[in-house]
Amino acid sequence: AVRACVHPLSKVGPGQRVVTIEGLGRGQRLHPVQRAFVEEQAVQCGYCTNGMIMESVAFLAGNKNPSEADIRKALANNLCRCGAYSNIRDAIEDVVLGGEQ
Ligand code: FES
Repeated sequence: AVRACVHPLSKVGPGQRVVTIEGLGRGQRLHPVQRAFVEEQAVQCGYCTNGMIMESVAFLAGNKNPSEADIRKALANNLCRCGAYSNIRDAIEDVVLGGEQ
């Protein structure tokens, strides 16, 4: 996952794919991480949500069975000014436990 605001499209190399938050789901069907965020009420104002979800999806692609500490470390650079961290962590743990990642 990269921050789109500081990663120009010109730096995307041949064969690399760009996936945005809008491209995660399939039509009206949410990606499992998006659905877990909704179910765990991990979205409050929503300001951090896109970054949290994209970082979580990338993290879970490389770690299918993370510990709570792993999750905290993976999201350490993503700030949530609403303080929804425990809901966000719960959402990610739900995805891990559900084996949907
Ligand atoms: Fe508001 Fe995270 S939900 S900043």
